[in-house]
Amino acid sequence: MLYELIYRSTAKPGTTTEDLEDILKTARDFNQANDITGCLLYHGGQFLQILEGNFQVLLDLYDRIKRDPRHREFLLLHMKETQQRMYSEWTMAFKSLDQNQLSTYSSVTAFTEIESNEKESSMAKDLFQAISTDLVGG
Ligand SMILES: Cc1cc2nc3c(=O)[nH]c(=O)nc-3n(C[C@H](O)[C@H](O)[C@H](O)COP(=O)(O)O)c2cc1C
Repeated sequence: MLYELIYRSTAKPGTTTEDLEDILKTARDFNQANDITGCLLYHGGQFLQILEGNFQVLLDLYDRIKRDPRHREFLLLHMKETQQRMYSEWTMAFKSLDQNQLSTYSSVTAFTEIESNEKESSMAKDLFQAISTDLVGG
């Protein structure tokens, strides 16, 4: 069965573009080999990530991601069965959003505003939905 997991975290202070590229390289290699797809967003020193795949593979991966010293202060926002992947074409899509871009996609002004209640986890999902539509278009 197909699941989607969304969490947010705080990037290690001083995270550079190179750090982000390293993260994506590791992520894409593993995800490709394990049928994981998804998208990583970066805004104001925060990560918001959606992972799509097999339930147990996702849980094991999330466990590993949480031990990664490149970020901390994790909040699991959403873990649900789904019928369809939003990011079926991406081993890990990536977008770094400035304040203006974030406001075109969502009413939140920072990822830290998103809490793990039903309404806000669906807000996070809506944000990923809007971005996936844009990635297809562009
Ligand atoms: C924000 C963030 C997102 C990550 N996403 C993934 C991912 O989607 N897939 C993945 O395999 N590793 C991802 N990683 C890397 C893992 O945390 C970890 O470094 C990698 O799986 C290697 O784990 P290991 O050193 O325990 O073998 C991510 C790391 C960070 C900081």
